Amino acid sequence: MFKEYESRAREILAKMSLKEKIGQLNQAVMPCEDEASKEAFRKRLRNGEIGSVILSLSATAGNDEQKAVVVEMLNDLQKTSVEEGPHGIPLLFGRDVIHGHHTVLPIPLASAASFDPALVTEAYRDVAEDARSEGTNWTFSPMMDICRDPRWGRIIEGYGEDPYLAGQMAAATVKGFQGEDLKDPDSILACAKHYLGYGFSEGGRDYHRTELSDYTVQNVVLAPFREAVKAGVGTVMSSFNDISGEPVTSSKKYLTDILRGQLGFEGFVISDWYSVQQLIRQGIAEEYEDCAHHAINAGLDMDMADEHYSRFLERFVNEGKVSEETVDTAVLRILCVKLAMGLFENTYASPKKVDRKAHIERAERMAAESMILLKNDKNVLPFPKKTRAALIGPYTFERRGLHGSWALDGYLGASTPNMAEAMDDVVAKEGGGCVMVTGGRLNDDSNYIFSHSDHIVLALGESHEDTGEARSVSDISLSPAQIELCKKARLTGRPTVGVVFCGRPVCLTEVEPYLDAILIAWHGGTRAAHAAVRTVFGDYNPCGRAPVTFVRRTGHIPLYYNVTCSGREVNGYYGEGASNCYTDYAGSPLYPFGYGISYTSFEYSVPVCDKTEISYDRLVAGEGFTVSVNVKNVGERVGKEVVQLYIRDPKASMMRPLRELKAFAKVEIAKGEEATVTFEIGSESLGFYKPDGTYVIEKGSFEIYVGPYSTSTQRLDVKVV
Ligand code: BGC
Repeated sequence: MFKEYESRAREILAKMSLKEKIGQLNQAVMPCEDEASKEAFRKRLRNGEIGSVILSLSATAGNDEQKAVVVEMLNDLQKTSVEEGPHGIPLLFGRDVIHGHHTVLPIPLASAASFDPALVTEAYRDVAEDARSEGTNWTFSPMMDICRDPRWGRIIEGYGEDPYLAGQMAAATVKGFQGEDLKDPDSILACAKHYLGYGFSEGGRDYHRTELSDYTVQNVVLAPFREAVKAGVGTVMSSFNDISGEPVTSSKKYLTDILRGQLGFEGFVISDWYSVQQLIRQGIAEEYEDCAHHAINAGLDMDMADEHYSRFLERFVNEGKVSEETVDTAVLRILCVKLAMGLFENTYASPKKVDRKAHIERAERMAAESMILLKNDKNVLPFPKKTRAALIGPYTFERRGLHGSWALDGYLGASTPNMAEAMDDVVAKEGGGCVMVTGGRLNDDSNYIFSHSDHIVLALGESHEDTGEARSVSDISLSPAQIELCKKARLTGRPTVGVVFCGRPVCLTEVEPYLDAILIAWHGGTRAAHAAVRTVFGDYNPCGRAPVTFVRRTGHIPLYYNVTCSGREVNGYYGEGASNCYTDYAGSPLYPFGYGISYTSFEYSVPVCDKTEISYDRLVAGEGFTVSVNVKNVGERVGKEVVQLYIRDPKASMMRPLRELKAFAKVEIAKGEEATVTFEIGSESLGFYKPDGTYVIEKGSFEIYVGPYSTSTQRLDVKVV
């Protein structure tokens, strides 16, 4: 995909001086808007010192409110680079357009909960169009760090604990950003990050080290990157962390041998913010002047923000510490990507009017599809609209929190209605009901509205400021004030739903007994409030499923469904020896991976397989088998079910997980109707990677589970002989 541009790239390279080549490897920070800063920047562009600009002002951009990108300024800089720079090479403008631009989609963790890759692709096409029209041609997204520790603030940016689901979502997002063709003027270049292992930051503490075996790297952590590379992602961002003592920024093993040798990645690698310079603290580089050669020799092509390549690479080439060929290779990769994007022909941003209404509708659909109904005792939900509804809780008037972390350019104000406004629209205006609202806390007013209401909506959650970069927490429970609120609501005896706006699978154990229903609404973006209210009042039937385990206590972390078997009966996740885990609390999850219910019910037939055994030779030659199941909607309304297929290899040369998700299908089934879901299973679902990266399928029996979530038990066996 990118290599086909190599001969054109070589023609350009042949005319470049060493200084100009190094310039292409340098991503500089956007200048300030005053004329003196801009002119200083233009001077650097004329000298060919800059290949890309990061449209960000600080290291933790996701935590700041930052000024939106100024198109005229970007076009002005681009013009200088192309018309006055040495070889007419256009700039890449990179920005953290993570889950939306002006219209904000649900956080990526929520998009994983939708289990709907096609919808994700559609919604991210909108994001690409919106961002590109204002000059961003490269996004540092999608983030695909597998995370088993919800204390980590950055769990919001990824797709949860499962490698297969994360792979599907990563590929879907790349396709959304990059489109069918990177040359499409509505496409932007995507970046698979953070490569590699950052989600395993020890204790969920951000920027900490990771301890990972090659076995886990190969089978868990690399999986979504494999899918992103297959989907044609143009860039990869190396991560801040080390893996068992080896900083990824300076690791030839990860950046070259595995990424290029094993995964076949053809685009270019960029460092994370200042991570080249971090090599000093990590003890790899001696001093400030000593960082750059470690990174480029490992295979890191572009240096983000810290200007180490631009300052020191020339000297290293002259001293023989870095070969000019190494520099050339990196430049060629970057030029190939720029050529593949059509940037030489379609160079400037041309602001256009996007169809905002369509974007907003899609954002609401995404939000609704990602919301998870975890509890609905006595089918209290959906509430009728013609009611007296009380609305209370910290998310009653909250807007910014709905966007979640990493929403740099999201429109707020009336563009992001809060829960009070959404209730007013849906319940009062559309439904003819009445809404009683007080602030977030318990007080005399809230006591009054509680006792005069028929139904109670508690708008709960965690602040977006407790999620995102450098924002990990040591306790993932809801605040004590919210627990009090739930208790108080219970005392009224009114049907009560807790709508939880969160960026991680918060611990719900303390509120669960006091709520009749629980809806996880995530930090659901621009339309989170309307999607949540329409779900609670029955316009939408919830159909999201948990992309992560909901633990009973923070102390149970890490707890994940695809755990490897143990030598004793301690696998509490599946109900086995739960008391062996902890003496003080059941070790099973509160809600397992894949879980979520609906306003209707589904019945599964016994799954069937078209073969009871298959020969190894046929399998590796590309043949497979099918597993089918009938799912009937036995409830009262149309609904969507996520049919999930898990596999276990119980006897193998290495210990394998108790279950692994290998396929899923989200199907809409009308009331009383039945759908047949058929999965095709091939070699890619039955093998695993050895620590050295070789993929093996081992003969023997495989257990296949089909059902509505990870711990469901309908099983059949297939033998590979
Ligand atoms: C983050 C990246 C982000 C980069 C640029 C870093 O601090 O780790 O995810 O893309 O900054 O803003």
